Amino acid sequence: MVEEEVVHRRFMARAFRLARRGAGWVSPNPMVGAVIVNRGRIVGEGYHRQRGMPHAEVLAIEDAGREVAGADLYANLEPCCHHGHTPPCTDAILDAGIRRVWVSVLDPNPLVAGRGVRLLRRHGVEVHLGLLAGEGGRLNEFYLTHAGTGRPFVVLKLAATLDGKIATATGESRWISGTASRKLGHRLRQEVDAILVGVGTVLADDPQLTVRMGVRRPRHPVRVILDTRLQTPLNARVLNDLPGVRTIVACGKDRDARRENRIRLLGAEIWPFAADSRGRVNARSVIRRLGREGLTSVLVEGGREVAASMLRDRIADKILMVLAPRILGGDAWNSVGDLGIRRISRSVTLSEVRSRRVGEDILVEGYLRREKS
Ligand SMILES: NC(=O)c1ccc[n+]([C@@H]2O[C@H](COP(=O)([O-])OP(=O)(O)OC[C@H]3O[C@@H](n4cnc5c(N)ncnc54)[C@H](OP(=O)(O)O)[C@@H]3O)[C@@H](O)[C@H]2O)c1
Repeated sequence: MVEEEVVHRRFMARAFRLARRGAGWVSPNPMVGAVIVNRGRIVGEGYHRQRGMPHAEVLAIEDAGREVAGADLYANLEPCCHHGHTPPCTDAILDAGIRRVWVSVLDPNPLVAGRGVRLLRRHGVEVHLGLLAGEGGRLNEFYLTHAGTGRPFVVLKLAATLDGKIATATGESRWISGTASRKLGHRLRQEVDAILVGVGTVLADDPQLTVRMGVRRPRHPVRVILDTRLQTPLNARVLNDLPGVRTIVACGKDRDARRENRIRLLGAEIWPFAADSRGRVNARSVIRRLGREGLTSVLVEGGREVAASMLRDRIADKILMVLAPRILGGDAWNSVGDLGIRRISRSVTLSEVRSRRVGEDILVEGYLRREKS
């Protein structure tokens, strides 16, 4: 790789790191970081902190002060060219006299979608598109999926033993994974817009589904329970803890009106759906509606039946599997319910697989091929 290319990549990687600081808080906007470089030196930096707040490019330009004239700008996403909560970034770039711009990925938002780049080029700015595009796309996979398709990006997370079990024969699952993995799980909750479980998990574990474990400024995701017959206990923590957090119970159309009212009185929303082929809430419809409500990402945290639906119906985009160094044996619960697979060639196969140690556990992540919905 030529030396100049290495330098461009280094500045773009810095923009990625800045962008990540806005994770979760910027939703439903993208994470954006910007770096301004003059004579080979970083003179300004900025990132989008929160929805409604100034964009990364504008903050970086301000940070660079007088050194911005004739400088280069690196941004992980195409600069916007429309009036939203804030004025267009392309205006700020042109006013500042920036000469060259490196962009990792285009913004699929129909109000931008290549227009930002074209506008800059029309005004004589040299624009280089596609620098570290693979990483730039993964960085904003929640936003890009939602902006491009209207559906949220779905992450299926499971904590299993080495023999693939998520609970003992008696249903005990706390805690299979170690402290470091559980902390990671809470940081992940902080970054997503919604967290989803089946009623089986609510009945077995009575989870709160909130952000805890050392996260300093928690941003709690919307809580979603798939519960066809409204079996969620009225004293369940998910219905009673943190009443300010939006909680949705997705149920079947044929439901008990009195129970529905009592759950509503606790502050939860009831979303009725037609049943799927197994007579349960149609998970695909739930995910689609979450997308229509502007939620860009959903973290599915089990249990095994919901995990099976996410894989069988090809709803999940990505899997995060925490493997803990334990073994529970054949009578324990499998991490994923029946998928009806009879041939290896039909198995659910991940791509772009990565793994790393998290405390004593191993985190395996990979992507799934999803059907259009
Ligand atoms: N280790 C881990 O990572 C982890 C994480 C979570 C849970 N767990 C463990 O998993 C166990 C619970 O597993 P589970 O399979 O019983 O519970 P689950 O997957 O959380 O819930 C399954 C139930 O959700 C309802 N549901 C509604 N719509 C559904 C749909 N489209 N697809 C699937 N389910 C739907 C069904 O009941 P209705 O038909 O009545 O609606 C179904 O029986 C517990 O022991 C828990 O501790 C472990």
